[in-house]
Amino acid sequence: MTNAELSTLVDTNDEWIVQRTGIRERRIAAADESTATLATLAGERALKAANLQPADIDLVIVATITPEMAFPATACVVASRLGCPNRAGFDLSAACTGFVYALHTGAAFVRSGQFKNVLVIGAETLSRVTDYTDRGSCILFGDGAGAVVLSRSTEEGRGFLYGELHSDGGPMSDAMLLKPGSRHPINAELIASGDQYMKLKGREVYKFAVTKFEELIRDAMKHCDLTAESLSLIVPHQVNQRIIDSAMEKLGLPADKAFVNIDRYGNTSSASIPIALDEAVHAGRLKRDDHVVFVAFGAGLTWGNAVVRM
Ligand code: UT7
Repeated sequence: MTNAELSTLVDTNDEWIVQRTGIRERRIAAADESTATLATLAGERALKAANLQPADIDLVIVATITPEMAFPATACVVASRLGCPNRAGFDLSAACTGFVYALHTGAAFVRSGQFKNVLVIGAETLSRVTDYTDRGSCILFGDGAGAVVLSRSTEEGRGFLYGELHSDGGPMSDAMLLKPGSRHPINAELIASGDQYMKLKGREVYKFAVTKFEELIRDAMKHCDLTAESLSLIVPHQVNQRIIDSAMEKLGLPADKAFVNIDRYGNTSSASIPIALDEAVHAGRLKRDDHVVFVAFGAGLTWGNAVVRM
């Protein structure tokens, strides 16, 4: 969906959207697609890239805030479709920090020795919960999925090196999908009011994201003794080009140290980092031994980072 198409739905235009967000287009799932179909495709491609068979996977984690259904978990559907027999599977909800939370969780299972190979997927169909009458939010979001396989390594100093996770439910109304839910169960009144979409206080999230981006990168670099030279690439949650540029400026790092593909996908929440990671690898921006930092922030509020040596 291009900015021009959006401007037929709400009072907006390409110039405003590009200037304020960097987004030019976003992907929208077709009627016969869903979070599980996108997640399954991403999972298949990750297995192929890792040269593994479905039976090699011990656990499937799907990070998502737009699950296939309330229950069972999307991960169970995906594991079954991928042909991972009787393996563990669960969903993880941490909004735009979802992939980083899932990476930590998968790595902890591998590190503990409980599982050998964990498939971590970030997948969203945000278009299904977007209010296409609200110009303050509908311009931002897109659908997509990305995945990685985490495997046990015997090499010292390689793989998942460090990371932090945080949350604060105090400002939860800054970004939320309140209805329907346990507090406001679905009923005819709710549907008639058209109130079943996500709500966003864009300005509040903007300030929060710039601050946390900077803090989390400083923390990651300090903890892992990384310098502007030895840090190969930052793969941030694709929230807004201006947020990323402003944080990079505050950090004194060149803008191209952050991999950005928001122009083509918009914000895909849990899916944004794994999609960007895949593109960064295929573009030759990340190779063996490189240090990459993932940084994410979003509804909850949640925020976190992860340092990986490829
Ligand atoms: O990952 C978690 C979820 N992501 C986010 O929450 C995103 C974080 N926030 C943002 O990216 C930015 O805050 C937005 C892109 C959402 C908004 O950009 P902004 O620079 O913060 O704009 P604003 O909300 O301060 O609005 C500025 C003006 C307002 O008009 P007035 O009051 O100055 O006359 C808005 O009504 O822009 C107007 N506006 C628009 N104009 C054209 C708001 N949305 C649009 C629009 N097209 N789509």
